[in-house]
Order: sequence, then C-alpha cells, then structure tokens
Amino acid sequence: MLARVTTFAIDGLEPRAVTVEADIRSGLPAFTIVGLADRAVSEARERVRAALLNSGFEFPLRRVTVNLAPASLRKAGPGFDLAIACAVLAASGQISPEPLAGHGVFGELSLGGEIRPCRGVLAAAEGARQAGLTAVLVARERMGEAGLVPGIAVAGIDRLARLPAVLAGERLTPPSAPDVAPDAPATAADLLDLADVRGQALAIEALAVAAAGGHSLLLEGPPGTGKTMLARRLPSILPPLEPQEALEVTRIASIAGLHEGHGLATRRPFRAPHHTISAAGLIGGGPVPAPGEATLAHRGVLFLDELSEFDRRALESLRQPLEDGHVTVVRANRSARFPARFALIAATNPCPCGRAASSCRCGEAELARHRRRLSGPLMDRIDLHASVGRPLLDDLVGSATTSSAEVRDRVVAARERQRARGRQANAELRGAALERALQLTSAAERLFARAYDADGLSARGRDRALRVARTVADLDGSDRVDREHVAAALAHRRRDAEALA
Ligand SMILES: Nc1ncnc2c1ncn2[C@@H]1O[C@H](COP(=O)(O)OP(=O)(O)O)[C@@H](O)[C@H]1O
Ligand SMILES: [Mg+2]
Repeated sequence: MLARVTTFAIDGLEPRAVTVEADIRSGLPAFTIVGLADRAVSEARERVRAALLNSGFEFPLRRVTVNLAPASLRKAGPGFDLAIACAVLAASGQISPEPLAGHGVFGELSLGGEIRPCRGVLAAAEGARQAGLTAVLVARERMGEAGLVPGIAVAGIDRLARLPAVLAGERLTPPSAPDVAPDAPATAADLLDLADVRGQALAIEALAVAAAGGHSLLLEGPPGTGKTMLARRLPSILPPLEPQEALEVTRIASIAGLHEGHGLATRRPFRAPHHTISAAGLIGGGPVPAPGEATLAHRGVLFLDELSEFDRRALESLRQPLEDGHVTVVRANRSARFPARFALIAATNPCPCGRAASSCRCGEAELARHRRRLSGPLMDRIDLHASVGRPLLDDLVGSATTSSAEVRDRVVAARERQRARGRQANAELRGAALERALQLTSAAERLFARAYDADGLSARGRDRALRVARTVADLDGSDRVDREHVAAALAHRRRDAEALA
C-alpha cells in the first residue's frame, strides 16, 4: 500500500514542500529511503524503526521504500523523521491516512519515540501556509513557534505513541510561554549596562548614534581603554524589534538552532565571532548552504573585536551585505540568498603594539599590514568613527554618568522619528530617499558645502556624513537637519591621517 505525507526541507532559509511517499510490498524485509537525502535524513531510517517499535507499533517485516519528492531538491536536516514515521504507519494500515491530508508534518524522533523539538519549525509552518495546507503537526515544545504563522492550525505531539489520539482530534496545549511581550524592554537585568563605563562620553554618544540609525561604527584606541566593554553594552540600548523584524529574527535563529524560547524573538541579535573566523563562517557556506554570522546578526549587531586580526578575505566578504543587506552564497550548481542587514561594530588598536602616535614601537611591515586591513572597501562602508582614549583619572574614580536606560529612551525616540518618515533606518537611506529625509537648513547646507570642499569628501563619504547628520538630528528631536547636527556628524567621521598616524 502507498501513503503520502507532506513535510518540508529548509533550503537556505526557505521552506520547500517535500512529499514523503511510503510504499510497502511483499519481499525480503528492507527499509530504503530514496530521493537525494543527506546523511541526517538517511539516518532517519534507524530512528524511525526504533521509535515505531518503542511506541507499541509494528515495523512492517516487508519491503518498505520511502521516496522523498521532488528528487531534485537536496534534503537536509532532521525534521523528516516524523513525516516518514507517519507515512510508514499509514502505508501499513496502523493509522488512518485521512486526518493527515491537509497537514504538514515536521519533527525529529528519538529512538524511544519522543518527538524532539527541531530546528526550522517556524519556516516549516510558513511552508505549510504557502503550500495551501490548513494545519501543521510539530513537537509540542515548538507549538508556540509554529503558532506565530497566521492562518495555520497547530497540532502538537510529544510521543509517537500518541499519534492516533492526536490525529483523532485530541489537542495538546503548548507548554506555557514565558511572559514576555515582543517589545519587552531590552534593558533587562541580564544585559551589561553602560553605567559600568567611566568617562568615554564621546564614544558612548557614537554608540547612541549607531543604535539609533543602525549605523556601522569603528571604535579605535589603545588597549585597555574600554572598547570591548563599550561594544558589549550596545545590546542594552538597541531599539526593540518591529513585529516583522521579530519574525525574521526568529525564523533565522530557529533554522540555526539558536532559538530557545517558545515564541517570538524579543531582542536584536548581537554576534561577536572570533577573529579566526573564515569568510564562509562570516557570510555562510557549506555543501548545503547554511547561514553565517552576518545572517545570524540580521536586524542586529555584528561585532568584530580586534578588527585588524581578521582574515582580509573574510573582511572583504562583508562588502556585499553592508551594501545590499543580503548575501549570496554560491556552491557548485546552486546558490542561496540570505538576509544580512546588520550594524557592524568594530574595535581595533591604532597599531599592533597599541601605543600609537609617539611611543609606538611597531615595525614598518607590521604597521603597513595593520593599515592595509583597516583601509579599503570595508572601511569605506563604516559610517561612524570614535577615538577611544585613556579615561581620565577623575572619570575612573567619579560616579557613574550615563545609564543604558537613559540612552535607550533617546534611541527609541529617534527610531520612532525615522519610522514616521518611512520604513528604512537612516543607515539604509540611499539616493532620493536620503535627499527626501534630510531637510537641511540653509545654515547646515553652507557648513556642509565648506567641509565637503575642505575635506575632499567622496560621493560616498558625503552620503555617509549626511545619513549620520540625519540620525544626530533625530536624537535631538529635530525635524530638520541643522548646522550643529552636521557639525556633530563631521566630528564622528573617520580622519584617516590622524587615526593611522
Ligand atoms: N572606561 C572604562 N570604565 C571602566 N572600566 C574600564 C574602562 N576602560 C577599561 N576598563 C577596565 O579595563 C578592562 C579592559 O577593558 P576592555 O574593554 O577590554 O579594553 P579594550 O577592549 O579597549 O582593550 C575592562 O574590563 C574594565 O574593567
Ligand atoms: Mg578589547
């Protein structure tokens, strides 16, 4: 007998419907899975067989063939187990196939027959909706995640033995979700707070501008001045996720196996990969293309500490996402496109020995290497530059100055001003959208024109400075970009000569 069940492969970040066909006929006992499955899927054979037997079902002692269609699609991941088990049970007459029609089935089995929560449930539920199905059957633990997709009924299952009851209409309730609203303030106790930082008012202001407008930022200064400390406190001042952004972040985290909660992601991601990371690790790769750090940082922050230590090719691979907000990963005969719209925060010493300027003891070659890493196309896409100097002794003993909560309130208000103008954060404004958003006063225009000539700004440099000026004005609660906003933006610019002297 033949039975069919619908499940989903995750192709990059996209769900693709897969039909699981199980055919059972007489012959020597055998269990074969065909249809371009990767190893984890082939291993489903062993899990399905053991799970069936341990759940009080029989495993048919005949020739069992499971086909995954379409054969051309490469199938990866563990979400196929439950669908294969359902198809085998239906084909062998142990469950009725009717209730499964209209369902998408997605879950991993343990040998004992428990349904394990697996990666990609949100994407699978989206796939079910796209395929015109009415319901999904997933691990009970992941019901909340599947329930984020509107228009799809969610059935949960915790043990395979319960399958007949669940298909007969018995509904499990999702495990109770932690009580957090999607826009719960991110100034939770577990986030590091800016109040720990003494002094560094200019760098903190640069962080606020970066958070408010989604700009990329380079923190540059000698070792031990608090660059890492500052960057790690950025999450405490980031604006909350918009509902659509929260869905995107949840879907990516779910596919990457990073999503712990029951529902929507509540925070912008903050990713801090080590400097030994490869280009593939940063932008994604692998035989079945998997998202990299740039995509895991989507809608949040990618922090590159000790920037000059990173592999040059890895750094250059970030050009595309910084420019376009996505990456394209090409592997053999296929390519995947991943979203990657993040704010880049980088920290670096001014030179390899870190002393810089007068007391620097670096050799010519070391210095040249350092400069090469910190120049070129990547630097050209960093909007803000903050020099982090040694804090004054007074600052170190003085009482705390700025708390994250204060800064975050300003950041949120500035983000709201941007939202009122359009969908894009200031860092994303290009061309006509940038000109429309600017609203320069004539005094601001005059100042900018003078600086443009005096500093020999490039066209890209001009746009960068103006985008930052727009954010400074938004932080100031101003509809128009005035002279002082342009002046502040120019001060946040990178001064190549100075920074690398
Ligand atoms: N501005 C500062 N305020 C308070 N503590 C600081 C400051 N700068 C440095 N420190 C202390 O020095 C340590 C090292 O700072 P870190 O952020 O790692 O410096 P960097 O990344 O610039 O080398 C911190 O953990 C902190 O204890
Ligand atoms: Mg550091």
